[in-house]
Amino acid sequence: MSAGQPISRVEGPLKVTGSAHYAADNNLPGMVHGVLVGAPFAVGRISAINTAGALGMPGVVRVLTRADMPKFGKVGEPAGVFRLPMQSDSIEYEGEPVAIVLAETLEAGEAAAHMVEISMERCTPVAPGNGKLEPAPTGGPMGDPFSKGDLAEGLSRSAKHVRQTYTQPGRHHNPMETSATLAFWQGEKVTLYDAVQHGANVPIVFGQALGLKPENVHVLAPHTGGGFGCKGYVWPHQLLTAVAARIVGRPVKISLTRAQMYTMVTYQAIMRQEVQLGAAADGQLTALRHHVITVCPQGDIWSEPSTEIAKTLYACPAILTSQTIELTNVSKPNPMRAPVEGPGSWALESAMDELALALGLDPLDLRIAAHADVDPKEGKPWSSKKLLEAYEAGAQRYGWRTRSSRPRDDGPWRIGHGMATATMGNFRFPAEARVRLTPDGHASIECSSQDIGTGTQTVFTQIAAEALGLPFAQVSIQWGDSALPTAGPVYGSSATMGTGGAILLAAQDAKAKLAQRVGAAADGLDVIAALRKTNAEFIGEGKFTLPGNAPFNADGADTPYAMRTWGGIFVEVGVDRDFGLIRLRRAVGSYSAGRIINPKTARSQMIGGVIWGWGMAALEQSQFEPTYGRWLAKNLSNVSLPVNADIPSDIEIHFVDEFDPHASPTGARGIGELAATGIAAAVANAVYDAVGVRVRDLPITPAKLLPGIASG
Ligand code: MOS
Repeated sequence: MSAGQPISRVEGPLKVTGSAHYAADNNLPGMVHGVLVGAPFAVGRISAINTAGALGMPGVVRVLTRADMPKFGKVGEPAGVFRLPMQSDSIEYEGEPVAIVLAETLEAGEAAAHMVEISMERCTPVAPGNGKLEPAPTGGPMGDPFSKGDLAEGLSRSAKHVRQTYTQPGRHHNPMETSATLAFWQGEKVTLYDAVQHGANVPIVFGQALGLKPENVHVLAPHTGGGFGCKGYVWPHQLLTAVAARIVGRPVKISLTRAQMYTMVTYQAIMRQEVQLGAAADGQLTALRHHVITVCPQGDIWSEPSTEIAKTLYACPAILTSQTIELTNVSKPNPMRAPVEGPGSWALESAMDELALALGLDPLDLRIAAHADVDPKEGKPWSSKKLLEAYEAGAQRYGWRTRSSRPRDDGPWRIGHGMATATMGNFRFPAEARVRLTPDGHASIECSSQDIGTGTQTVFTQIAAEALGLPFAQVSIQWGDSALPTAGPVYGSSATMGTGGAILLAAQDAKAKLAQRVGAAADGLDVIAALRKTNAEFIGEGKFTLPGNAPFNADGADTPYAMRTWGGIFVEVGVDRDFGLIRLRRAVGSYSAGRIINPKTARSQMIGGVIWGWGMAALEQSQFEPTYGRWLAKNLSNVSLPVNADIPSDIEIHFVDEFDPHASPTGARGIGELAATGIAAAVANAVYDAVGVRVRDLPITPAKLLPGIASG
């Protein structure tokens, strides 16, 4: 049986042979290349756009400005920005598109883009730190302020308490594939080759903005070169490509440059979090307060609900959470791996370490003492939770309890050990799938799902093969086409639950139909023999639905169970006391995340999360330049992010044996983003353990360490 086996990715051969086509790899006869021109300054008013020079360049077909644009309808989620570009003279953030050059070649388009003359009345941008503070909007599925118990009373009876502020810079997603869209029209119908994490979001936004019927928006997206959230929502370039194609009556391709990826899609917000914790001498929490300030644009607000962790991770009688937004002239932030709990765990799990030190408790024992046996927010039972087992297995593998017997130094490196709890919300989305059984004993899965390189297509195939009792090689999968049954997204660490669940139900449905035809029980049916006998095709349909047929479900809301994922992350760092350099030497992650269907792709996801977390902890920051109101670095050569030389081979991943019967029929919860949580705090905690310097501002760079080491 293939489920539970470490099978390599089914799309792997396509990728290593170069036959996987990404959005920008597609070309069509008569196609025009579009180049977006951004406003020259971040804030102000466009007074004139002179396109004559650009139009005079060879190969230029057309230059579109606001005058050519239709008036777009009002958009909401899943649109990335709610204030669409090229609809007014006003410019509110850096890089806002103001013109589209259309040319016969990309080179002609890029050359002509430099010739578009934009006159602009410039205003002074409101930079992060200078913006107006407002309460974050409420009423969404997450992030609402929460209060239970008496915080002051909880603090007054605590043996120790800590109150600290933790900050982090903006960080860009930087997937390897830059966003790209190729659009062409046939009558009222538009087809897009697109780089997306959920093709089904495109017809929704095109419906809002252009009034198109969903069936008139066809999205082809079989391979997406990473996303990390920046291809989850629908961004203006997708809409502008389709509009440009309609105006010129030819296919149009717009491929964002790496520099445009810094402004025309999204990034993780600049955040500031305050955590206040009180605990009794035995480590039981008595009070927990968590507040976040998210820096966002003035006209298009967005708040990171990083305080969810305070409502869900630890048992505590008094919890208070709140959110503020700071209105500035930044471009719009959005979810980035791991949204919500990546930032939330950085703050809370750093504060927990400070509390453990204040109490004189081992950081792991503090977490165990604070373990939430039921959901702290509503008191609901967990769908399944094996966090204590995960802590224990992780601590064993790391040698946490015996760490003090290890050498403190390795040459110039002072060694530190740190740990944190990893936790992630359980985000579920509805999904549909079809499974087709053919007389030759094969099964074919049909679902519109995307592939961002995580192994979902392989996991889906394993799920169907197991349900049908077929060898893995006799199950194939079709994906990446919105004409197929509508899968859930490949974001929110949700695909194995939702789309995987729909595929499981579809396989069971097909098998039941076959069993009925041959007059046998579905249980234990020999599918190959039965298909041979009937010599017919059987089509099974599967639907994974949520309470109230909602489009989204967080943490098991509206069900009898609360659902989350958890783990313990243990890291060893080295700090060079002369230079302030830090190195990741070793990491062990141990997780409770439901059934693991493919240990190979799952392990790969978790290693990726740990590496991503190291980037957050020690390397990544998008510098915002306040005078001009822009992100400073616009290419990867000026951005530090983890490379192979930064990552030790000694990253060990463990999953506890688990089947969650409530989150999904597959028994799975989510994994991808879980491993990117906890790690920044674990690293900060390990750095403190090494050299006694507490860094509360990410990333942890030599400049922040050296003064502390020198004075320590
Ligand atoms: Mo992730 S931010 O859900 O792609």
